[in-house]
Amino acid sequence: MRDRTATRVATGRARSQSPRNRWRRTRVVTGMLLASTSLLTACGGDQSSLDPAGPYAQEPHDLITIVAIIALIVFVLVQGLVILAAVRFREKSDDDGSLPVQVHGNTRMEIIWTVVPAVILAVIAVPTVQMIFSTMDEPDGDFLTVEVVGHRWWWEYYYPDYDVYTANELVIPAGTPVRLEMTAADPARSPDQGVIHSFWIPRLAGKQDVVPGQTTTLNLEANDPDQTFIGQCAEYCGLSHVNMRARVRTLDQAGFDAWVQEQQTPAAAPDAGAPEAEGRDLFADLGARPACAQCHQVWDGEAARSPGVGPDLTHLLSREVFAGAIHDLTEDNLREWLADPNAMKSMQYEHNGIGMPNLDLSDDEIDALVAYLLTLE
Ligand code: CUA
Repeated sequence: MRDRTATRVATGRARSQSPRNRWRRTRVVTGMLLASTSLLTACGGDQSSLDPAGPYAQEPHDLITIVAIIALIVFVLVQGLVILAAVRFREKSDDDGSLPVQVHGNTRMEIIWTVVPAVILAVIAVPTVQMIFSTMDEPDGDFLTVEVVGHRWWWEYYYPDYDVYTANELVIPAGTPVRLEMTAADPARSPDQGVIHSFWIPRLAGKQDVVPGQTTTLNLEANDPDQTFIGQCAEYCGLSHVNMRARVRTLDQAGFDAWVQEQQTPAAAPDAGAPEAEGRDLFADLGARPACAQCHQVWDGEAARSPGVGPDLTHLLSREVFAGAIHDLTEDNLREWLADPNAMKSMQYEHNGIGMPNLDLSDDEIDALVAYLLTLE
């Protein structure tokens, strides 16, 4: 027994004195510090909550900053004490192997380390609760309401004040608060729907779940016009969840008014005999195959405007993106999309029967349909 203790003490002494071991320890600690620094710097970019672009993103950002500073102070203090204790009470070269005085319980210290964290949490709670209310309440003064519907796998936007439907790309005036009233597509309307999504544009606001059968709200506002902000569905909603991106485009007030006016205009009817007219006929009737018009509305100004199962295409060309905001809206991309939607937006129709099916269109049919879609300005 005594022999074994002696050996352990001897080995311990040898280890703590070896310069090579000390060097190895330094390298491990340095590596860990470098790794955590690079992780932190990776959180930048277009989708960073740390780069707020409007008041509803600024408030949480400022709160995070306060909490991070407090956490940093606590971290330095606690780690400092750990290091101090390790250095001060390390095994000395003249250690005789006996145990130090054993103590149990210290009422004063236990009260200190219970009360101090409780006070810190209480202090953080005040601005946190204030911020929850100030960001969730209806904005003061004038604001724009947009009804948002999360579909598998795209976002529908309806502007009730203007009776305008659009999809994938939310267009808002800069400097005006926007209140989103959000729900997920009704399973009664389409049985494949009825799952939870989450709307998140990190530079403009926090994240909010979008739940079938309920209305949740989210405020956002952008400081500057002529900007594009990106985000995505942040709640797993099926295989193509990754292809459900969100996008917000900002305009100045005059630009937004012009945009609304354009969106309120019915789609122009193509001239008879033109390739676009042939495309419009195919849009409405593809024979045995499901027609585009079964899911997509192109509003001609006659009947009331109503949402379809798929995105409203009345002013398709006014958007920069399509297909869950994953593709740029170009003629080539539209052509590819009509030829094989599943290749362009994977894990939608072929696995789930949800979304855009492959309609086995001939090259001539694609030419005519693309010619028609390009008139939907
Ligand atoms: Cu919608 Cu994930």
